[in-house]
Amino acid sequence: MKHLRSIDELGVAGLHRLLDLSDHMAEINRRPVPKVPALRGKTVVSLFFEDSTRTRLSFETAAKRLSADTMTFSVSTSSVNKGESLRDTIETVAAMGVDAFVVRHKSSGVPWQISNWTDAAVVNAGDGWHEHPTQALLDCYTVRTALNRPDGFNGLHIAIVGDIKHSRVARSNVWAFAALGARVTLVAPHTLLPPSLEGWPVDVAHHIDDVVDRVDVLYMLRMQRERMHEALVPSLREYTSRFGLTPDRADRLQAHALVMHPGPMNRGVEMAVDPAELPGSVITQQVTNGVSVRMAVLFDLLGSGSGLAGEAS
Ligand code: CP
Repeated sequence: MKHLRSIDELGVAGLHRLLDLSDHMAEINRRPVPKVPALRGKTVVSLFFEDSTRTRLSFETAAKRLSADTMTFSVSTSSVNKGESLRDTIETVAAMGVDAFVVRHKSSGVPWQISNWTDAAVVNAGDGWHEHPTQALLDCYTVRTALNRPDGFNGLHIAIVGDIKHSRVARSNVWAFAALGARVTLVAPHTLLPPSLEGWPVDVAHHIDDVVDRVDVLYMLRMQRERMHEALVPSLREYTSRFGLTPDRADRLQAHALVMHPGPMNRGVEMAVDPAELPGSVITQQVTNGVSVRMAVLFDLLGSGSGLAGEAS
């Protein structure tokens, strides 16, 4: 693997390889000193042109636990504000000696553009509405560990609920969940679905009550109000009444069902129940697993066979 820009270019074998490798990383993370010398001498740059808490911090933690050097690029204090172009920014940072760029940008396709301008590996940490492949990987890893499914998701039914239209998480997760064998149902009003779902391996429902008592995984999406330039739902109260996870609906989940959310969540909108009170909530585990999965991605891109042995000094 040279880059990780989409789930599609990873393929099913690549998905399984990274999920297996995440098990090794999770074992390292359970040690008293969770650090190995695997990426000593490598440099990983976080290049975030959009806000982030989870993805940015977990990539930086992942790189440090593998003993890589890290650089953090802050747009608000950079020469981007003096008009420096994206290409000049990349070429300038690359000239300092970089092995991997972890990139988030509001425009779809930017990770592909960047990979044309540098020899370093490029990891897509979210490009516009398009893809968020490491979110999909950590979500698959969370389902795999929580439901003990190391060989795949055949027979599992996963519903992704909410603002599909603006969601890069939904786009990556649909392909990843389906590639591992799950049945995927999208649950949304017509206005929050993409104009065409042709070729998507999904079925569609228009009310959360159609699926809540039969799914193995209920994956709630954030209403991305910052990406909406028109009123796509009559009101947030009406949205919650048809698509929100309320206490009544939580009571109707199957006993083994997982509740997931990529974060950040809108409490009282899509999550009208406190996740801390849901026995099936694995939202905190998603965040924890994000470190192991991103360690697996960085090691797969930059590491060598024996690099996981030993402890970092
Ligand atoms: N899920 C996710 O991408 O969260 P952040 O925006 O906080 O990175």
